[in-house]
Amino acid sequence: MYSYNLKSQTDPRWIKAVMADFDSFLIDHAANERKASTLAMSMVVHYPDKDDIVREMIDLAMEEMAHFREVIKIMLKRGLQQIPDTTNFYIGTFMKSMRKDPKHYLLDRLLMFSIVEKRGAERFGLVGEALTEPKVKDFYQRLAAAEYRHYELFISLAYKYYDEQIVVTRLDELLQVEADIVKQCPFKAAVH
Ligand SMILES: [Fe+2]
Ligand SMILES: [Fe+2]
Repeated sequence: MYSYNLKSQTDPRWIKAVMADFDSFLIDHAANERKASTLAMSMVVHYPDKDDIVREMIDLAMEEMAHFREVIKIMLKRGLQQIPDTTNFYIGTFMKSMRKDPKHYLLDRLLMFSIVEKRGAERFGLVGEALTEPKVKDFYQRLAAAEYRHYELFISLAYKYYDEQIVVTRLDELLQVEADIVKQCPFKAAVH
């Protein structure tokens, strides 16, 4: 199985901000899961000729929707509602690094999604550690493991479609891009 490390670790001030306003974190997190599902479905539509992408992305879209459903259930129990989507600085800025030409677009998206999933796994792990309420704690620990699997899925798809050296070089560039974006994100009760 392919693996790599992120170029930065989440600052402990992030988890402090999350725990200080966990309700806001949940609302942001729910939107993230819904958007992850939509992005996976956009891959299904975009690459009808690539059977394994179609198959894997339908599964992923369903899994992300299941995560969305679980977060929504936790929110409803707490009397929380969704709020209108706002542009996400982390994803929005990261997207700007995608090369749009057909030769590179797939590689860049697979690598970006892999990195985003890996950051998600790291952060949900931190949330799982910090929480005390057993049910929600367990949910975030399961989620961290799921997002870790997604990180592995995207990186293995990248290696499937592109030569190793091309993947390694671009991965290193995008990992640096992501670390720089994380550095610019304020510490707030949101996934990013
Ligand atoms: Fe998810
Ligand atoms: Fe995921």
